[in-house]
Amino acid sequence: MSLQTEIDKRKTFGIISHPDAGKTTLTEKLLLFGGAIQEAGAVKSNKIKKGATSDFMEIERQRGISVATSVLAFEYKNHKINILDTPGHKDFAEDTYRTLTAVDSVIVVIDVAKGVEEQTEKLVQVCRMRNIPMLVFINKLDREGKDAFDLLDEVEQKLGLRTCPLSIPIGMGASFQGIYNIWENNIQLFTEEKKQKIGETIKFDDINDESIDEIVGKKAAENLREELELIQEVYPPFNREEYLAGELQPVFFGSALNNFGVRELLDAFIEIAPKPQPKNSDNRLVKPEEDDFTGFVFKIHANMDPKHRDRLAFVKIVSGTFKRNENYLLVRDGKKLKFSSPNAFFADKKEIVEESFPGDIVGLHDTGNFRIGDTLTSGEKINFKGIPNFSPEHFRYINNSDPLKAKQLNKGVDQLMDEGVAQLFTMEMNNRKIIGTVGALQYEVIQYRLEHEYGAKCSYEPLSIHKACWVEADEKSEEFKEFARLKQRFLARDKFNQLVFLADSSFTIHMTQEKFPNVKLHFISEFRNADNFEKI
Ligand code: G4P
Repeated sequence: MSLQTEIDKRKTFGIISHPDAGKTTLTEKLLLFGGAIQEAGAVKSNKIKKGATSDFMEIERQRGISVATSVLAFEYKNHKINILDTPGHKDFAEDTYRTLTAVDSVIVVIDVAKGVEEQTEKLVQVCRMRNIPMLVFINKLDREGKDAFDLLDEVEQKLGLRTCPLSIPIGMGASFQGIYNIWENNIQLFTEEKKQKIGETIKFDDINDESIDEIVGKKAAENLREELELIQEVYPPFNREEYLAGELQPVFFGSALNNFGVRELLDAFIEIAPKPQPKNSDNRLVKPEEDDFTGFVFKIHANMDPKHRDRLAFVKIVSGTFKRNENYLLVRDGKKLKFSSPNAFFADKKEIVEESFPGDIVGLHDTGNFRIGDTLTSGEKINFKGIPNFSPEHFRYINNSDPLKAKQLNKGVDQLMDEGVAQLFTMEMNNRKIIGTVGALQYEVIQYRLEHEYGAKCSYEPLSIHKACWVEADEKSEEFKEFARLKQRFLARDKFNQLVFLADSSFTIHMTQEKFPNVKLHFISEFRNADNFEKI
């Protein structure tokens, strides 16, 4: 098969939602359709238990799940579909942001009763900033929930999307009868008994067909006709270019648990969702159909087994064909690396592959060479943009509790930071080390892993910092020198030796910005080439 055919076959996407909206259930149903799993429950039995408890089993499970479901690939109607897992837990939000740099589109799942929730808002905002094409799936239609049109309004208002309904529910909750599929012009009837099976689909060419009245009842049929008219008048018609440009978001309704509306979603998805897209690097746009291989690391996962301290780096292939046992350049440090057992991921297994193509994710065994964001190429010296670090929410000093193990501690901290578990800052004044995280759970993960994987012990000391601000300034200017003198107790370096101002309050940030207008403070590490991320 030619490279172009391989590219055209592929769709790589992520499902995003607030916890509990039904992401896992939908994923599972998509896999069922793809024949990738045989029974419901296969993904679920593996899933992250919700709500952060702080016992270590939980931490282990959190880590375990992300390997098992990091990438779920399956074939459907001659397409190769790669679903990338995006952790729903907010302590792992940064992981999700990074994963979103590797998807070509997303499906947003919303609970019909709860409507738009906090985590969905944040994630959709990230997608909007990058113009990622989005499909919306409104889930749990078998339950009482909000009126469909109110929900569409809410999605537009809260998420800033421009919606285009491609299906519409007939009734809801106890009176839920099915879904009118605008995309395919048919009605899929819902019956409780068919719970785990696919419901009956009836095709209509004309919405005025009287048999609709017989099937769903006169009142519901009239209602449906009115609603369809309203949709035609009020909502923009579907336009693929607008969807691909991130300017229009088709909406589907259904019930993942009941397998309802899922096939419609999947069928529309494979027809309209984008194939692997070009990606910007620091000196040119790289297109998937180029012969030479390029890719980037968006996730690193440590081995669960402490006896084997290797890691798995997840590489999204941007262009060309990735081949086993071929030499590739790790651009950051100029090393040539060869991989004898690259993994490809499927719903229920991982396998060693000879070749992978744009849109695919390969898992590369790594003994400590990779960092999140690294670019790997056939030889060209380019770096892909856009895997930023955001300011952490929590900050603590890290202390070594066992002086004989200082080396192990440093190595462990270094490697965990490469994996993107947390961020390290070193104080300018006294070289003390600070760990910054998105959620408090990470401190326990770090402490546990340092002990079990590196044999090092650490303790933490609380620190009252509001935000890390990356500093951009002319370091020779008098203004900067004055800033550095006044703020010396709050200046640190990140892992890449960039200067960071650790501000103790938003008031301090405000005052500092007023006093030193030419010392720019950024809330994201990659401020030099961040594409719009900064506003988040
Ligand atoms: P998440 O990954 O987004 O966190 O959500 P998940 O799929 O785990 O679904 C959250 C809960 O919502 C689950 O119930 C799931 O069964 C339920 N659910 C998902 N889709 C539907 C739907 O279409 N209709 C209804 N009524 N419920 C749905 P749970 O009780 O938390 O878990 P479980 O005991 O069923 O595993």
